[in-house]
Amino acid sequence: FERIGIIGAMVEEIELLHRHVEVKSEQVRAGITYYEGTLHGKTVIYCKSGVGKVNAAVCTQLLIDQKVDSILFTGVAGAVDPALNIGDIVVSTTCLQHDMDCTPLGFARGQIPFQEVWEFHADERLVGLASSAAEKLFSGHHRTGKVLSGDQFIASREAVQELFEKLAGTCTEMEGAAVAQVCAMNETPFVVIRSMSDKADGSAHVNFAEFTIVAANNSFGIINEMISQM
Ligand code: ADE
Repeated sequence: FERIGIIGAMVEEIELLHRHVEVKSEQVRAGITYYEGTLHGKTVIYCKSGVGKVNAAVCTQLLIDQKVDSILFTGVAGAVDPALNIGDIVVSTTCLQHDMDCTPLGFARGQIPFQEVWEFHADERLVGLASSAAEKLFSGHHRTGKVLSGDQFIASREAVQELFEKLAGTCTEMEGAAVAQVCAMNETPFVVIRSMSDKADGSAHVNFAEFTIVAANNSFGIINEMISQM
C-alpha cells in the first residue's frame, strides 16, 4: 500500500492526524477538505467525512477518485459485545448497515434488496496489520468482529442487546458500513478501526462526552502504528 486514504467522521478523530502528518497540499471537494502529505514516509490523504452514512459514502468515493490504494477508517464506537470495555479496540472483519430493514418484503435484516452481498469484508492484510498494532499498543484489549453502522446513536440497553443478539455485532457506529460498501463497489481494500467511547446503553450519551477524545486517540494510535509497518 503506497497511497493510503484515512477517514474520520469527527474533529476528535482526525485531530492527531493534523499533528502527525506533514501536509503538502489540500483540496476541497463537496465541502470536504482532503489533506495530502506523508506519515512514516508513506503518502496519505486524510479527511473529516462528517457524521453518518451519506457523508461517509460521498467522502469515500471522492477519496477513491483521488487514486488511493486502500482506506483506513479511524474513530470511536459504542460497544455491542458486552465483553468490551470503554477504550477497547475493534478491528472490522466485516461491516453491516443495521438500519437497512426491508424485512416486510422478505429480505434479511440488513440486506440491501436485490444485492447478493450486504455484509462487506475488510481486507485481510489490513486486518492483520491493525490487529498486530492493537496487540502491540493495547495488549489483550482488542478484538476483531462485525461493525454495525446506522444513522442512529444507540443509547439504550434494549437497542444494544438487539444488535448483539439479532445481528451478532461487536460494536456500533454511524459510518463504517457505508465506507465498506463504497470500497466494495470500487474493489478498494479497507479496514475500520474503532475504540469504544461508550457501551451504547442508557449511559452512552454521558460516556460518549467523557471518553470520545481518549478513544479517538487510541484509534489514531493503531493507524499510526499500522502505517509505520506498511
Ligand atoms: N459512536 C460512538 N458511540 C456510538 C453509539 N452509541 N451509537 C452510534 N454511534 C456511536
